[in-house]
Amino acid sequence: DAGDVLRNSLLWMADSSTVRATIEKAPVSRSVVKRFVAGDAIDDAVSVTAELRQTNRMVTIDYLGEDTLDLALAERTRDTYLRLLAALSDRGLTEGGTAEVSVKLSAVGQSLPGDGERVALDNARAICEAARDAGTTVTLDMEDHTTTDSTLSVLAELRKDFPSTGAVLQAYLHRTEGDCRDLAYEGSRVRLCKGAYKEPESVAYQAKEDVDKSYVRCLKVLLAGAGYPMVASHDPRLLEIARALAAHNGRSHDSMEYQMLLGIRPGEQRRIADRGDTMRVYIPFGDEWYGYLMRRMAEKPANTMFFLRGLATK
Ligand code: FDA
Repeated sequence: DAGDVLRNSLLWMADSSTVRATIEKAPVSRSVVKRFVAGDAIDDAVSVTAELRQTNRMVTIDYLGEDTLDLALAERTRDTYLRLLAALSDRGLTEGGTAEVSVKLSAVGQSLPGDGERVALDNARAICEAARDAGTTVTLDMEDHTTTDSTLSVLAELRKDFPSTGAVLQAYLHRTEGDCRDLAYEGSRVRLCKGAYKEPESVAYQAKEDVDKSYVRCLKVLLAGAGYPMVASHDPRLLEIARALAAHNGRSHDSMEYQMLLGIRPGEQRRIADRGDTMRVYIPFGDEWYGYLMRRMAEKPANTMFFLRGLATK
């Protein structure tokens, strides 16, 4: 239907370098980007964190960037995470995992030809070390399906030294229910999301209802399991199901958490925190917002209209 056409076009735009160059040059007003992205600088991410703390929300911070084919850039990204963790720690924002960080392995070298996976592992290890020293932890974002095996094997390596390192699993992939079983062990932090990339039918469910059904099957595995599930969704139905399954499995408030993206359903974020559950907000910052925003546009026509109106009124 028309929604699918829009979604597929936006996901195609997310990957197109020509479209990217055009949109990045367009005079996008800061307010448009600002609803979903904290700002360009570390200080912006730190201030948004402090602001969200006032309403008892936890955060995970993502330095925007992906698919780096430049070793020096991968190292600069790593160093930005180190500086971010130091800045958060100085402000007392990392204790007890209040603020953690989310890392895309492709931003720290995974897609470099040859030994990309090793470069990404080394850079991620440095970030995990800094996170541990600051009293917090790291969650590895999950990117397109060609990277899943590599990301899970880097995760396994990192967990040997940093057992609290978390992973993201995407319910739209056929394989994910099995990955949930593998990762539902004690101490294992798993962030379950629907999945945001354009994936072929051979590996991923295409219809929303099939993705939702898979999400519920994965929730059942994770919430019945021994790990620490992180329910990352804005979908009211799935959030209700997660809550019911948590009660059914006798889960305490501190044995799992709910997670949403900055700027999406902020009222619901506060309600979840107010009722005593852990609510963590994913905060992206940095100037590489293009791919991130295009994926948000693809998820919801209302987001696209908000973005286009901002472009038009600038
Ligand atoms: P979906 O987009 O289907 O929306 C379902 C419902 O939620 C809507 O019908 C509406 O009711 C409500 N809703 C959604 N957007 C709204 C809005 N703007 N305003 C009001 N209501 C709205 N993906 C990935 O591939 N790899 C990753 O590593 C991550 N990481 C990640 C971390 C965290 C913390 C989150 C929350 C999400 C991710 N994602 C991700 C993105 C994820 O895969 C997915 O694309 C988005 O979360 C959107 O999916 P929803 O579950 O919200 O449902």
